[in-house]
Amino acid sequence: MLALVFSLCVLSFAAQISCAQTAAPQIKSDVGKANPLNAPGLAEKVEALLQKMTLEEKIGQLVQYSAGQATGPTSGRTDDRDMVRKGQVGSLFNVTSARETNALQRIAVENSRLKIPLIFGLDVIHGYRTTFPIPLGLAATWEPEIVEKAARVAGLEASASGVRWAFSPMVDIARDARWGRISEGAGEDPYLGAAMARAYVRGYQGERLDAADSIVACPKHYVGYGAAEGGRDYNSTEISEHTLRQFYLPPFHAAEEAGAGTFMSGFNALNGIPTTANAFTLKQVLRKEWGFRGFVVSDWNSVGELQAHGIANDGATAARKAFQAGVDMDMVSNVYHRHLMQLLESGQIAQRDTDEAVRNVLRVKYAMGLFDHPYTDESKESSAMLRPESVAIAKIAAMHSLVLLRNEAVSGSPILPLSAKISSLALIGPLGDDAGNMIGSWGALGRAADAVTLRRALTEKLGDSNLHYSKGAGILDGTDSDIAAAVEAAQNSDVAILALGEDAPTMTGEAASRTRLGLPGRQEELLEKVVATGKPVVLILFSGRPLTLPWAFEHVPAVFAAWFPGVQAGYAITDVLFGAAAPTGHLPLSWPRDVAQEPLYYNALNTGRPMADPEHPAEKGETKYISRYIDEPNTPQFPFAYGLTYTTFSYGATQTSAKQLMLATLQNALADPARQSTVLSVSAEITNRGARSGETLAQLYIRLEGTSVAMPVRMLKGFQKAALAPGETRKVTFEVGADAFAFWGVENKFGVEPAHVTIWIAPDSTAGESTTLEIADTHR
Ligand code: BGC
Repeated sequence: MLALVFSLCVLSFAAQISCAQTAAPQIKSDVGKANPLNAPGLAEKVEALLQKMTLEEKIGQLVQYSAGQATGPTSGRTDDRDMVRKGQVGSLFNVTSARETNALQRIAVENSRLKIPLIFGLDVIHGYRTTFPIPLGLAATWEPEIVEKAARVAGLEASASGVRWAFSPMVDIARDARWGRISEGAGEDPYLGAAMARAYVRGYQGERLDAADSIVACPKHYVGYGAAEGGRDYNSTEISEHTLRQFYLPPFHAAEEAGAGTFMSGFNALNGIPTTANAFTLKQVLRKEWGFRGFVVSDWNSVGELQAHGIANDGATAARKAFQAGVDMDMVSNVYHRHLMQLLESGQIAQRDTDEAVRNVLRVKYAMGLFDHPYTDESKESSAMLRPESVAIAKIAAMHSLVLLRNEAVSGSPILPLSAKISSLALIGPLGDDAGNMIGSWGALGRAADAVTLRRALTEKLGDSNLHYSKGAGILDGTDSDIAAAVEAAQNSDVAILALGEDAPTMTGEAASRTRLGLPGRQEELLEKVVATGKPVVLILFSGRPLTLPWAFEHVPAVFAAWFPGVQAGYAITDVLFGAAAPTGHLPLSWPRDVAQEPLYYNALNTGRPMADPEHPAEKGETKYISRYIDEPNTPQFPFAYGLTYTTFSYGATQTSAKQLMLATLQNALADPARQSTVLSVSAEITNRGARSGETLAQLYIRLEGTSVAMPVRMLKGFQKAALAPGETRKVTFEVGADAFAFWGVENKFGVEPAHVTIWIAPDSTAGESTTLEIADTHR
């Protein structure tokens, strides 16, 4: 069932502060699952404990430090432990072994007055010890099931070290590949983003949040962080309320509905108000409209940074503003510890607000079962890591994250899959044998030694003498002689595999925005020289973002986007190269031709002019009006949701079960909190036209016209994978709920309006044969 977020706030963005204090109509839908933070008896336990707490102990629950940081405790130092003993700390992070978490926990539970356990957090982003593809790669699988399994493995492993809180998922919508943190999220689309958000939360938090191996999720960075102007990390954002509601909030709402126990605020200012001091997003939307019951932690030092943002001239004001806006826990800036007491005593913040923040934290600690089982079993820690079944999931996730971008014919047939008859292969490039980079950024406890490189996997498959490995160049540098050696290796082989791309730790992730999205160093030159040998070339791009490589996309016959695939990188890629598995990944974002096109996203609005250029090859057949450059087509290099495989599919016409939907029917369906009813069936016949069986990703898109606000040229509303035998034709059907047609309208609420609807079932965001229907308020 389609589950688009839906809420009935009728208050405007402009009126945000007063909004936060008014009782807004609330709709809370936990979509089928009981929220563990509402468990019977929980509120009583929290209340009983709260009654016993001193003000100092209450403030302690709102304070978080990173181990080893100057502002707070480190695991080995006695004076730091003293803060834990005094109940001045509620949470620690970056403590990553069972022995250390247990030692600190023992102080909290056995030596502090009220025995309140610590909650240990960590950036568990795409695995703990077993590293999965980076989140952008996981999104490229378009398989929430595998993402849920990956998150479950991360939960099992992290909890074995006593880490019960993941600062993940990052659900920031990102439309600009210059932004380094685009690698940490699910790309540009709110529907796919929401599906991924739910999958992570379910995986981390497991069947029961109070199970010893469950970890609490923390969707971040709330909200709009991915819209950083110019793609520069940490930069300010200006997002209209419509765009915020329609695009940026849905993945957060989905995570909240899936039961996420915590949220993290962001570094960015949103429409002039830093998200760490933003009462509209934190109190109005998150607490009042969505009914969030967990706690909000700031981002690293983002409370203290309110001073740099210019909305606080001292630490005390920074603490007050963040606290009053709804940030419950201060991550490392130490201003809650320093100033909350004095703010309370002087009446600048209210005791009842402090109690409420403490309740939020304690509710999560109780719901996690931390009071019942605060420790982890040290004897089981190492056996929890890298279990064969976990590594097997990492391999599947890596295989399914690979997106085949090109597969041109070389001497009559597509170059891939590689023939088993190939007797020699050249492996060239700085990423062919770089285990550290396979882990990607935010590796948690992932180790280079655990990662299988392409060189290792290909050597195991082909034998040492048949694999001609030549690095050719570094990621950033290279010498003429190394390039010449690589060219020679290609000349002596049947096929050349080039493993090129970015350096994960320095060029992707936080504070790693780029203005040029080509291959760094001498890699492009290396590629062109190898292609010039005339040998068939397969280019494997390892990157945390799309790379703009116009020459390669014209001259290299086969290209994969491999992201950073994790511990099983080499085996996963080798299986797909040789056809043991077919590629099934699809792009979670629009892949630009040129960095100057950024921000580029498929779900954009139409404009009034000019007409698409019917003469231009890239715009042929376009009837849309699109704003455009004079020197570069508007279209992406590869559209959102694009991906090839080893067979081809044709999609028949889209058909719907009705040509007219009554407005009242949709409104009634939306008013049902369970939102389960189907209002329309949409189907299309898909045929496998090739000689191999294969899987296609059928996508459902809609467009609404004639509405009170302009809506995008297409919006994703569903997706499903279908496996078809050679020659097989299969009908795929989407059962569509009313929420697919709901949007944030001019009256500042989610709802449906009369509209002309275009619907596609398509293999990517630019393809498909559409049909139309009407949403009408009277029968026609
Ligand atoms: C990042 C967060 C991360 C936090 C804790 C910050 O710099 O923005 O995503 O969770 O550090 O490591």
